[in-house]
Amino acid sequence: MSENGTPITSASSDDDDGASKGPFGVEISGLDLELDGRHLLRNVNLSIEPGKVTGLAGESGSGKSLTSYSILQLYPEGSVVSGSVMFRGRNLLALGRREINAVRGRQIAFIFQDPSSSFHPMISIKGQMTDHMRYHLHLSRRQAEARALDLLTRVQIPNPREALSKYPHQFSGGQLQRIAIASALACRPEIIIADEPTTALDVTVQAGILRLLRGLCDDLGLTILLVTHDLGVMSALADNVAVMREGEIIEYGTRRQIITHPRHPYTKSLIDALPMNVGRIHD
Ligand SMILES: Nc1ncnc2c1ncn2[C@@H]1O[C@H](COP(=O)(O)OP(=O)(O)O)[C@@H](O)[C@H]1O
Ligand SMILES: [Mg+2]
Repeated sequence: MSENGTPITSASSDDDDGASKGPFGVEISGLDLELDGRHLLRNVNLSIEPGKVTGLAGESGSGKSLTSYSILQLYPEGSVVSGSVMFRGRNLLALGRREINAVRGRQIAFIFQDPSSSFHPMISIKGQMTDHMRYHLHLSRRQAEARALDLLTRVQIPNPREALSKYPHQFSGGQLQRIAIASALACRPEIIIADEPTTALDVTVQAGILRLLRGLCDDLGLTILLVTHDLGVMSALADNVAVMREGEIIEYGTRRQIITHPRHPYTKSLIDALPMNVGRIHD
């Protein structure tokens, strides 16, 4: 909750049409993607359960980013795509440009690997956070600033008021990723897609960012898709885990199932490669 009692994110707030809100999930079915004769995604089926963290793991190049960007039709030009991505009763793959733009950033927000790519270098944090909210949520300048301040406090930025007038380069990578998370929350999304959100960060700050994401899911009822090549990250955070390989989901289950009883030899090899062998610890 913010100081004036309004919820910081959407999951429990009033909808524009007055309907009761989620949490909402996303259901990917039979997603296929071909590009220049390469079959990059093959019959991808994935339930991103409402109010939970779903982890999408797998080695580099296995199709994790393609799958997550496809949710918002952000595939490479020339892609031939089939299948469906159901969200709130609509197939996102079938939406026109205007309709999908209304979903992007507003109902489904992204957090990227490199936090500096989420910001314009020459515009203050306040400018970037409030423009977004004023446009999408029709807030006044003062309302948007108050909300930006609440959000920076929520993601534990020290001296949030001062932080608002600073520029992206004045923050460390970890702090900037927290601000990127605050910005992603700005328009009360229902779903957050985080693509390798800690990969570019110092090891010492990674755990803090992951705990923050977990807390947002638990406290605000957000649904999160966490993409990572690192099964260790996943085992610390996700409720459910899907493992991709060569454009296919080869395994899906609860975190516990995947870590203690992986069925696929490839998943087993990933678990065995984990530091301290998390799988055995859980057994
Ligand atoms: N814009 C693109 N143009 C051509 N090939 C691409 C493009 N984006 C991804 N690919 C290919 O699709 C496959 C999956 O990529 P990606 O989803 O980025 O993998 P991951 O995120 O798991 O590392 C890779 O073989 C990659 O080379
Ligand atoms: Mg990727």
